Amino acid sequence: MKLSKSFLYLVLLIPLGCTPPATSVPTSQATIQGQSMEHMLSDVNKIRAFAYGSGSAAATEESAHDLVSWSRRLGELFPAGEATADYVDMSPERVGGAPAAMRETSGMLLVAVQNGNRPDIGSQLANTEKNGCGFCHLITNTSIR
Ligand code: HEC
Repeated sequence: MKLSKSFLYLVLLIPLGCTPPATSVPTSQATIQGQSMEHMLSDVNKIRAFAYGSGSAAATEESAHDLVSWSRRLGELFPAGEATADYVDMSPERVGGAPAAMRETSGMLLVAVQNGNRPDIGSQLANTEKNGCGFCHLITNTSIR
């Protein structure tokens, strides 16, 4: 029998407005899905650092582009039937709606990054985490479904 993986708690590990996690945090980079998440998390953290005043505009724009590219691949990385079987938390609604949610929020984030206004970047980043990443991941521990 295939082991179902649960992943919903993970967003709790993503610091909201604080420093990125240590690079030694254990990860399951064995899967392309795990790698995609690592890339997206790294992009999110770099964009957050810029919103808080560090980093270069050019590098941050690269991160925003990277986040958009990975978002575009979500449908292919988590195909409907397979993802719901592989991950206990991936309901058909999540698998179906997540790619569009990530594409939309990361696209708006990219625009904000290109405009270069740090407070706007911060709020689009929060929107991406809440409505993009949050489409699949829990962002509070009280909303378990
Ligand atoms: C399509 C639904 C979906 C979306 C949207 C999503 N994730 Fe994930 N995430 C998953 C699944 C499923 C896993 C477990 C992947 C695995 O290890 O096989 C995961 C795992 C992770 C992990 C652990 C990676 C590892 O090393 O195993 C991190 C960190 C993560 N996600 C961050 C994010 C961030 C940041 C975003 C938004 C930019 C995001 N996720 C958006 C479904 C999603």
